[in-house]
Amino acid sequence: MTADTSPMPAQVRPPYGRMTVGDPALPDDGRLDGAGVVHSPGGAGEIGPTGRPLPAFPVPPPLATQGVAWMVAMCNQKGGVGKTTSTINLGAALAEYGRRTLLVDFDPQGALSVGLGINPMVLERTVHDLLIGAETDIGEVIVPTQVEGLDLLPSNIDLSAAEMLLVTEVGREHTLARALASVRSDYDVILIDCQPSLGLLTVNALTAADAVIVPLECEYFALRGVALLLDTIDKVRDRLNSRLELAGILATMYDARTLHAREVLARVVERFPDEVFHTVINRTVRFPETTVAGEPITTYAPTSVGADGYRRLARELMARHAAPPVASR
Ligand SMILES: Nc1ncnc2c1ncn2[C@@H]1O[C@H](COP(=O)(O)OP(=O)(O)OP(=O)(O)O)[C@@H](O)[C@H]1O
Ligand SMILES: [Mg+2]
Repeated sequence: MTADTSPMPAQVRPPYGRMTVGDPALPDDGRLDGAGVVHSPGGAGEIGPTGRPLPAFPVPPPLATQGVAWMVAMCNQKGGVGKTTSTINLGAALAEYGRRTLLVDFDPQGALSVGLGINPMVLERTVHDLLIGAETDIGEVIVPTQVEGLDLLPSNIDLSAAEMLLVTEVGREHTLARALASVRSDYDVILIDCQPSLGLLTVNALTAADAVIVPLECEYFALRGVALLLDTIDKVRDRLNSRLELAGILATMYDARTLHAREVLARVVERFPDEVFHTVINRTVRFPETTVAGEPITTYAPTSVGADGYRRLARELMARHAAPPVASR
């Protein structure tokens, strides 16, 4: 973790990494829940699905002051690992916790927009207009979602044309950062859903962002390409954006019942012991269902394990973000 830009006041920051185990929001009957958490009677000494003691991630208090949005890119050049699903549902969970959240669809596939019930093909204005320098007010492009406190900057296939036009621009890597600058004070968190590539759009997202979340599917080859991704993050940090930090690696589509998924997760944790989130998102058919429904799981199936997973991730992310950098602990 680098510079602390937390909107949370210092006196209420949870001491991440030194917290006592046991989360009152979890069942307390000594069983393995759908997210692979081993629950011990009494709630103490829980071992999480990553094999580490599970800290408590308290519900964050309301923000005392409103500052500048913390911007996080959801990034992995591997396709179908849960970037869009995590952007929608983490965003919805953050909004539930009172964080004004903007989701940026930065993939010409427009899956984030579709997943929030918006048909991007009929929109007059999208993120494309902001990038190509047209006289567009970002306020006219942002659309509210059904979730209070959650807005969307939609995108569609036009974005791929913008990528080609950008190639010849001066300062092309900073285009998204410039486009978002005027709304950063309107939000507490901005999540950018990247496309599955390490091309110019993704580099723009990394240049705009304060942090990156890397979703990884708990499947064979989960780690394939991660070294290249981390190398790209390092290069962007060195050359374009010194603020950029790795917020964490998120294991997705985890099925605690299969030995295979448990082995994959163990390997990921072995390779990245400090970076992997304690929260793991389990595999459930409820997520594809939410895409069809066009809404987050937190409203589609509010009491499901999937909704609980993303709420837990939101709490962990806020606790991590609020904690002092590892080096100064
Ligand atoms: N935890 C989960 N359990 C089951 N299915 C999931 C889960 N997370 C995502 N999915 C499904 O997996 C597919 C890929 O997910 P998603 O679109 O979020 O990945 P992505 O990384 O954004 O893909 P792309 O690289 O194409 O943008 C979708 O059909 C989604 O509904
Ligand atoms: Mg996607």
